[in-house]
Amino acid sequence: MCAVVSSSPFTESDLTYAGTMPNFDWDLIAEDVMVTQNDLPEPKSVLYPLIPDWGPEPSDGTNEAREISELAHVPESDFPVGCVIRMGDGHHIPGVNVEHPDWSQILCAERNALSSAVAYGYEKPVDIFVSCPNEPGGTPCGACRQVISELAPDATIWIDNGESRPTSMTAHELLPGGFTGTSLKRG
Ligand code: THU
Repeated sequence: MCAVVSSSPFTESDLTYAGTMPNFDWDLIAEDVMVTQNDLPEPKSVLYPLIPDWGPEPSDGTNEAREISELAHVPESDFPVGCVIRMGDGHHIPGVNVEHPDWSQILCAERNALSSAVAYGYEKPVDIFVSCPNEPGGTPCGACRQVISELAPDATIWIDNGESRPTSMTAHELLPGGFTGTSLKRG
């Protein structure tokens, strides 16, 4: 058993982080205290970084993307975006937008999540959940559509509509007639 005691009430980000820790079930017993019956990992052991499965409903994935958007780094726009990619084995990989004063260097949530998926050795995402809490119904930008069509051509993309149910679309619907580059590789 262990407890986390904070000098100030936990923020939404703290709770999101705690909620995504694999093998830890936290009970919030006060606004600044949470306890778990689980044992702490061995010192120096590597924490498993992927978010475990949470449930079959698309709204669950959308809620997760919305919560993860709170971790976005958006000093330039104050427009957070969260993305969660679900893999066939049930693991989930998050991404948020990360901004820089030079807008050409801004990193989008979807491409961050897709890049992480590649780094973890994953291929063929099954679902991609996108949430722009400031703009319910907000969809991926052109660059993200291109990368989705290349790295996740068979994925279902779920768009957060706020109070309404999330909308689903295919990669092809997001970017009909997109560039494929197939003729670039010869021989
Ligand atoms: N943004 C994304 O993260 N994904 C998109 O598909 C659209 C735009 C971010 C980039 C920038 O940080 C902010 O939203 C406003 O464009």
